[in-house]
Amino acid sequence: MPQATLNIDPAFSSAPVRPRTFGSFVEHLGRCVYTGIYEPGHPLADEHGFRSDVLEATRDLGVTMVRYPGGNFVSGYRWEDGVGPAEQRPRRLDLAWHSTEPNQVGVDEFMAWAKLAGVEPMMALNLGTRGVQEALDLLEYCNVPQGTYWSNARRANGAEEPYRVKLWCLGNEMDGPWQIGGKTAREYGRLASQTAKAMRLIDPNLQLVVCGSSSSAMPTFGKWEKTVLDETYDDVDFISAHAYYWEKDGDLESFLGSAVDMDRFIAAVVATCDHVRAVRKADKRLMISFDEWNVWYQDRAESRPPTGDDWPVAPVLLEDRYNVADAVVVGNLLISLLRHSDRVQAACLAQLVNVIAPIMTEPGGGLWRQTTFHPFALTARHAKGHVLELPVNCPTTATTRFGDIPVIDAAATHDADTGDLTVFMVNRSAAEMIDLRLDLRAVRRSRLVEAVLLSSPDHTRRANADDPATVSPKPLDAQLSGGAAAVALPPISWAMVRLSAS
Ligand code: AHR
Repeated sequence: MPQATLNIDPAFSSAPVRPRTFGSFVEHLGRCVYTGIYEPGHPLADEHGFRSDVLEATRDLGVTMVRYPGGNFVSGYRWEDGVGPAEQRPRRLDLAWHSTEPNQVGVDEFMAWAKLAGVEPMMALNLGTRGVQEALDLLEYCNVPQGTYWSNARRANGAEEPYRVKLWCLGNEMDGPWQIGGKTAREYGRLASQTAKAMRLIDPNLQLVVCGSSSSAMPTFGKWEKTVLDETYDDVDFISAHAYYWEKDGDLESFLGSAVDMDRFIAAVVATCDHVRAVRKADKRLMISFDEWNVWYQDRAESRPPTGDDWPVAPVLLEDRYNVADAVVVGNLLISLLRHSDRVQAACLAQLVNVIAPIMTEPGGGLWRQTTFHPFALTARHAKGHVLELPVNCPTTATTRFGDIPVIDAAATHDADTGDLTVFMVNRSAAEMIDLRLDLRAVRRSRLVEAVLLSSPDHTRRANADDPATVSPKPLDAQLSGGAAAVALPPISWAMVRLSAS
């Protein structure tokens, strides 16, 4: 059996674990909001109409922050439609998803939901069909305590205290030809800069995210970032990155290597940010908000919005069913995000419920967890303290898209206060079992707390409403002796080993 070694040394840490790494995303898209987080009349709905089972699963998932209300949806959205008496709110065409938006959930409902879920809200602004004024109005509505038109409107709508939203996205995927009101880099950069400057007149301490490319495959990737940052570098704190992966044309090996692409993507955005920084002789270092990432089978029929005269409310859209390989890739993408915690300081698993989501609901019925729920929940719960430098000594595995890649990928975190040490790892081989040795000689007095494995002899196995548990993590046999822990990782597997100071 091929051998691999991880050298774990708590003396070498690269960055603190960022709580915002474990963000997610709620967009007015398909059944994410309606029959997802919100379903009045459902037996488990609370007095606001929020499904308490979804709230509980959101807390179990360990989500820390949620981006709202889009996505492509936000670029045609009038936020004022979603506030005030619900029965007076207009129904509108949602052009992004060819749906009808009933506006029964808006800013106030989302903020109430976020509070119940215990997550930080991350608000996205419409810089597609709208601009500086509407962004200022929404900021005033959310954050000004009282005594102005919009702050008084919020209070009249039941929210006496301001929401104090800290983190704002200046539009969404503005380079995309599909984006309503999409712009050139120069046009968008100027609008984003003007919007950011005006918002800072209300609150200089906001944290603002400017749009990077909507994927690294865009023809303008790199040039877009450079031009947008030339316009906005002094005004913003983060630049966004979005990436979706799926098994294209049956190429399982390359799909399992998706995190290599994420690593390269992050390195390229960091290089571009630092180039602009160097040219400007700036002290400030820009961070990345990886505010959309996941596995998404974009070529499946349910990824296509309805067409023609049909403008349904909350249609079934993007309801991917994830298998074991998808969960291993999600776990590996989180490893990549953790590894880059020095520059990736916010990230959102897109999305939270029903739409390419770890949580699925049946309208009027139950809730179940997809395979992808587990690596996210366990990483969010146990990645604490600092991310360690982690040299991996292992064989490579061949892929068509990325060449030969290390078969093992891993991240480790260490909490200096508690002594807890957690290692997250994947075997990216489609065929070979790997004997993995965690070299713990630099970790004094360690005790094995837990070892779990997500894997299946059939990597295409999915969870479903009737059987959500078969493909959940199971105990992993781990031997601790002589300053090392030994585990055997089956092909296409994700694992977690937890140690503590004894
Ligand atoms: O998350 C689904 C969609 O993917 C979002 O609306 C958009 O921003 C991205 O293209």
